[in-house]
Amino acid sequence: MFRGWCRGLIPLLLLAIGTCAADDHNPFAGDAKAAKAGEYEFRINCALCHGLGVHGGGRGPDLTRAVKKHTHSDADMFQVISNGIPGTAMPANGTNGQGVGMTDDEIWQIITYIRSQEVKAPASAVGSAGHGKDLFYGDANCSLCHMVEGKGGRLGPELTAVGGSRTREAIIESVRDPSRRLAWGLTESTKEFPQEYESVTVVTADGKEIKGVTLNEDSFSVQMMDANEQIHLLEKNTLRSFQKSRQSTMPKYGADVLSDKDLADIVAYLVSVGAK
Ligand code: HEC
Ligand code: HEC
Repeated sequence: MFRGWCRGLIPLLLLAIGTCAADDHNPFAGDAKAAKAGEYEFRINCALCHGLGVHGGGRGPDLTRAVKKHTHSDADMFQVISNGIPGTAMPANGTNGQGVGMTDDEIWQIITYIRSQEVKAPASAVGSAGHGKDLFYGDANCSLCHMVEGKGGRLGPELTAVGGSRTREAIIESVRDPSRRLAWGLTESTKEFPQEYESVTVVTADGKEIKGVTLNEDSFSVQMMDANEQIHLLEKNTLRSFQKSRQSTMPKYGADVLSDKDLADIVAYLVSVGAK
């Protein structure tokens, strides 16, 4: 596994040889004192996304799962923490969100801490992923606005990876109370200052009202997508009104519309897809 990782890094070969040689085993494995030091580091550098206690937060996955998606050995974890995961919010050491760079020893201490918090038995499956999938594409209408594995609508964010990168609680909160924390923007999710989804309602010069989400905006124009996935490029000074709001375009699914059990099934479906 680890060798494969090194081989994949041809452009960074020199760096990789250096790091691979030095970083293939955790000098602090199983050391309780190092785990304590790691906990402290984790709170400063990681808890913002992965939550206090490693259980996952709004932006990062639960790291107590014994079976992880990208990382198996401690050495894999060292690479992920040092280099981040390109194309995701997981930053490289010393970059955005991770504060000042950590030393190798500090990274190993954090890994020792994460290992000490892992739950060894796989979490028993909560909910039925099969039924959740039926609901997602059927009665619950999620696929009107969301794409999973290439199928579905585009008004809301693509959800293929959401089950692997968000906790169950965060997904449930997004469905029960979408406006509480708007998702990161369509185009900007991996940039340093991600733009959040913004809902927008405009009235054009001829009195037509269009509601949707913004794709791009500058002082003079706005590009938006409406509920039918039509994209509109509008000059602001020609509009009768232009209103943005932090109210999600996603309907709030109360327990009367979607029971806790059905929602658990949908989350089970998203988690099963996200774990692939
Ligand atoms: C800005 C948010 C953010 C910060 C800060 C952050 N992470 Fe992450 N991390 C993520 C996200 C998002 C993922 C999941 C990426 C994906 O698979 O889509 C991730 C993935 C991981 C993984 C891989 C999990 C797996 O399933 O294989 C590890 C390990 C990890 N992070 C450890 C850390 C550690 C340790 C720190 C602090 C030094 C940290 N992260 C800081 C967002 C963050
Ligand atoms: C009318 C369109 C629409 C429908 C229907 C809809 N959503 Fe959404 N959803 C959105 C939009 C737009 C956002 C982004 C803004 C926000 O975060 O509220 C979003 C955000 C989300 C997020 C947060 C994503 C993230 O990256 O944090 C999740 C999870 C989610 N929706 C799940 C669902 C599920 C599950 C259903 C079905 C029960 C559903 N949505 C139905 C439009 C919709």
